Amino acid sequence: MAYNLLKGKKGIIFGALDEKSIAWKTAQRCKAEGAELVLTNAPIALRMGTINKLAEEVNAPVIPADVTSEADVTNLFEKTMEHFNGGVDFVLHSIGMSINVRKNIPYTENNLEFTHKGLDISAVSLHRVLQAAMKLDAINEWGSVVALTYIAAQRVFPNYNDMADGKAMLESIARNFGYYYGVQKKVRVNTISQSPTLTTAGSGVKGIDGFINFAEKMSPLGNANADNCADYCVTMFSDLTKMVTMQNLFHDGGFSYTGVTPEVIESMSKE
Ligand SMILES: NC(=O)c1ccc[n+]([C@@H]2O[C@H](COP(=O)([O-])OP(=O)(O)OC[C@H]3O[C@@H](n4cnc5c(N)ncnc54)[C@H](O)[C@@H]3O)[C@@H](O)[C@H]2O)c1
Repeated sequence: MAYNLLKGKKGIIFGALDEKSIAWKTAQRCKAEGAELVLTNAPIALRMGTINKLAEEVNAPVIPADVTSEADVTNLFEKTMEHFNGGVDFVLHSIGMSINVRKNIPYTENNLEFTHKGLDISAVSLHRVLQAAMKLDAINEWGSVVALTYIAAQRVFPNYNDMADGKAMLESIARNFGYYYGVQKKVRVNTISQSPTLTTAGSGVKGIDGFINFAEKMSPLGNANADNCADYCVTMFSDLTKMVTMQNLFHDGGFSYTGVTPEVIESMSKE
């Protein structure tokens, strides 16, 4: 069901790797709601993934950008502005990567070079994107930027490793940059804190299957899936949420405010 919520709006979607990606589903939903899109991902992901299939489906150009490169990010905004003949109304930052997670290195023994790289990709990149956009005046008034995050920014989830620090920083950048961009141009910046979801990035977290089941039992509505997340992103890009900025918005079926549930107690009981 579509409501034309993004009719006439233009946006950039970072991070669609394959059909499971939250960014992939969001691109499809944005298109269905009337938006015009530019897709982007790291050059290596463009070679490994299947983004061209999505590009065809949503009729969008693909402009490569490694988010750790200021030149790439600047080029992305310049090319996008040429393509649309003006600025964009929304940006989805759907990017995360930790080499420590990938290599299964425990948090207390993290290789800090890997930590730097992970923080750069997963968190500092949001600053880089916003800074480039602001310099080029690439986001229209009342534009909306959303970055995806996880509750490990607030509470300890051991297997999430150094991504937890990345998410805490990401949320802080959204808040701080959101202040300045709001004052300067009424651009809003928020993070959506999503339930654990089986995607390529999600599958990298050790024990994700058991963890998804645990979260499901701990959430009154059950886990939010990638399609649900895409819907929420659409509302955040729409004019219906114009006064929401600098927030971390939990999209997790109630997990974040639930202490315990009978199902979890039962699974722990001896009789
Ligand atoms: N899957 C989950 O359980 C879950 C839960 C909460 C939040 N999130 C967040 O959602 C976002 C999207 O992840 P996903 O689950 O859809 O997985 P995904 O693996 O499909 O997406 C991650 C994307 O990051 C991109 N990326 C990595 N390095 C990059 C770089 N240097 N430059 C540009 N792009 C780069 C990848 O190519 C990929 O497209 C991430 O921020 C993730 O942390 C995921």
